Amino acid sequence: MNRILVTGGTGYIGSHTVVELMQSGFEVVIVDNLSNSNIEVLDGIEAIVGKRPAFENIDCTDYVAMNALFEKYTDIVGVIHFAASKAVGESVEKPLLYYRNNIGSLICLLEVMKAHKVHNIVFSSSCTVYGQPDAEHLPVTEDAPIQKALSPYGNTKQINEEILSDAAHADCELHVILLRYFNPIGAHPSALIGELPNGVPQNLLPFVTQTAAGIRKELKVFGNDYNTPDGSCIRDYIYVVDLAKAHVIAVSRQLENKADTQVEVFNLGTGKGLSVLEILNTFIKVTGVNVPYQIVGRREGDIEQVWANPKKANEILGWKANTPTEDILASAWKWQQHLAGK
Ligand code: UD1
Repeated sequence: MNRILVTGGTGYIGSHTVVELMQSGFEVVIVDNLSNSNIEVLDGIEAIVGKRPAFENIDCTDYVAMNALFEKYTDIVGVIHFAASKAVGESVEKPLLYYRNNIGSLICLLEVMKAHKVHNIVFSSSCTVYGQPDAEHLPVTEDAPIQKALSPYGNTKQINEEILSDAAHADCELHVILLRYFNPIGAHPSALIGELPNGVPQNLLPFVTQTAAGIRKELKVFGNDYNTPDGSCIRDYIYVVDLAKAHVIAVSRQLENKADTQVEVFNLGTGKGLSVLEILNTFIKVTGVNVPYQIVGRREGDIEQVWANPKKANEILGWKANTPTEDILASAWKWQQHLAGK
């Protein structure tokens, strides 16, 4: 039996990945301490897949508990590591918490993996490592320079990429795939799982859907004086289900020994940049629901424009994010309505 350990598997991207893994025939064990997710996510996964994934409430920084996990599930052949704290603003307030959680968990995981001879890890990284690329580096390829992180959260992604590279350098059996996500949005088409923001959403899409639902009075668009066609910031919004599928391909690639090098890195994006106002207007058009908004000042630390060149992932992984934006936004709205009906 091939079992994949998914840390952070009840989280937003983790839960969608668990669904895709199980639907591809993998056994899964989720490890999550539920610090930023809900146990009911398991019901959603079970309703979609027809089977409940194994779940262990463990903190990934706890070596003793993680070691016991690997002793219990002796069929683990690969790890997808999502578990991390991810709020940029909070990371500025509580840097030590972020360094302890995000870096401590990876170190612990790598030590336990080595002790149990598990040699494959897929790591959840971010386009945040590129900062604001120069015009000549847009769209961004994997070779674009890494820039100094703007927050402790971003720094933990960079440091973890380095830890993984160093660990692979020292251990010729270790195989690492670094997946640099652009902006994941949307929810499973069943609307049985989706993003569950804690408190006031910081990310654009949950704020849009909550405003459409009347939970928030109005969306604040952070700046319309950027050097972009409509003045608002540009991002590469990728459907979370497309993103989840890339993980199944990555982990399968490792299990089939297809990796070209011990450490591989892929940008996961659509290759298309959309502005905040384009997202907003498309959402209104697709759902027919009005979203009151106001243009306000720029958000500190925001990047003007970034979108991916996903050619490497398209060609080497044979993966493409091709869900139309309209369908993605409709899925986000369906999920918001599902939440309202609970
Ligand atoms: C943010 C993080 C990034 C992290 C990612 C995770 C920052 C600076 N970056 O990316 O490190 O990996 O989340 O998903 O926080 N916007 C509004 N109004 C809102 C919310 C957002 O106009 O209420 C705009 C932002 O200015 C930005 C775009 O929407 O232009 C996307 O914002 P967001 O969803 O927060 O993602 P990022 O800033 O790209």
